[in-house]
Amino acid sequence: MATPRSDALVFFGATGDLAYKKIFPALLAMMVNDGLDLPIIGMAHSGWNLAQLRQRAHDSLLQAAQAQGGALDEAAFARLAARLDYIDGDYNDPATFTRLKQMLGAAKAPLHYLAIPPSLFATVVKHLQQAGCAEGARVVVEKPFGRDLASAQALNRTLHEVFPESAIFRIDHYLGKEPVQNLLYFRFANTVLEPVWNRHYVDSVQITMAEDFGVDGRGAFYEGVGAIRDVLQNHLLQVTALLAMDAPVGHDPASLNAEKLRLFRAMRPLVPRQVVRGQFDGYRQVDGVAADSNVETFVALCLHIDTWRWAGVPFYIRTGKHLPLTTTEVIVDMQVPPLSIFDEIAPPQSNYFRFRLSPEVVIAEGARVKQPGEAMRGEAVELVARHDAAPEKPPYERLLGDALRGDNALFTSDECVEAAWAVIDPILQHEGPVQSYTPGSWGPAAAAAVVRGAEGWHDPQPAASAAR
Ligand code: BG6
Repeated sequence: MATPRSDALVFFGATGDLAYKKIFPALLAMMVNDGLDLPIIGMAHSGWNLAQLRQRAHDSLLQAAQAQGGALDEAAFARLAARLDYIDGDYNDPATFTRLKQMLGAAKAPLHYLAIPPSLFATVVKHLQQAGCAEGARVVVEKPFGRDLASAQALNRTLHEVFPESAIFRIDHYLGKEPVQNLLYFRFANTVLEPVWNRHYVDSVQITMAEDFGVDGRGAFYEGVGAIRDVLQNHLLQVTALLAMDAPVGHDPASLNAEKLRLFRAMRPLVPRQVVRGQFDGYRQVDGVAADSNVETFVALCLHIDTWRWAGVPFYIRTGKHLPLTTTEVIVDMQVPPLSIFDEIAPPQSNYFRFRLSPEVVIAEGARVKQPGEAMRGEAVELVARHDAAPEKPPYERLLGDALRGDNALFTSDECVEAAWAVIDPILQHEGPVQSYTPGSWGPAAAAAVVRGAEGWHDPQPAASAAR
């Protein structure tokens, strides 16, 4: 049965950081590219009025346009501003939701986007229900979905009391990224990969999500979250799942989710002593951060996937703020040839697949070819497929559009989100002290020991140099 298109968009947290950085730009792009035309209601408790919200939207869009070296399309902004409405009110006060109900008027299928801290979800969804705003509606909830397994389960129960699972859209913007979808596509659209994509040929996998900036402007949010909850439990485990899952049996979202769920459930829960948590020097001086904070801005770990396909293959994952550059890159190291029959003494490992997910998109295969000359000596080369030219539809534009249409293929299900928390939970319960690192370095020295063998971590290189 075709699902009806949402006929109003309500976003909670309208005066916040996420709305400023992602939601307003996505709304403008949807208006220009997809003819988005529905009432948009911002909700917040900031003592603002509609004129102030419109000004905030303008500032956000101007900044986004300038960041891309362009100018703001003022005519499009005027259309957006005309659709925009605002309610300023306390989320604990039923009257706020009575006003929302009135403002929604004849809308029968509103989409409620909760760009607010998870601690407010329960209050908001219950008031939505009591005010009659939940019937026929959908709800989008931001990550992190809870703080640990127990709170995620509680949150799911709360949401399910008001919305059916098919109306709940748990957003993870990584799933809306082209190169992330390409992991799945590349794996299952090419027969050459599948026979070697297992413990018989893969030696290890490394996933690095590095950012060369810190947490300025969002210290208070980050202090309540840390790297593990901010990006490991969601973005990085999702990338791991797409790299490692079995082929879905059909092309429908349910088949994809079923395989992903099997994979999440096969991930061995992490052991605290195998995880290195780091904090960059200077983090404790950031606004909103405790002077004795033990929150990690870096994490490095080894994940195991207990399936016949992956048993014994380590998946090394690390992420951090204030690392040397901003990029997300996956290296799948293949095993070395069983015998060395050429003149080389221990050639460096150069059989691998490299997936650069950002800032530019690269899929490459590392190989060795013979150098000209009498000796049977080789050099490392990369066979590269690169497409950085086509502008990607920003993930929030893509995902918000999907949610308005009721298409949940790129959203996380209740079971998947809980299974991902189950992997992380043990390291949240027993976290030791963080280890400090110098901004601009690859994290604390102890992170090196996470990777077995002499080669260590493959540090991603700046965009200009293709080979690792
Ligand atoms: C967000 C995290 O989910 O993802 C941020 O909260 C992080 O801390 C961001 O910087 C990275 O996303 P992207 O799309 O910029 O790689």
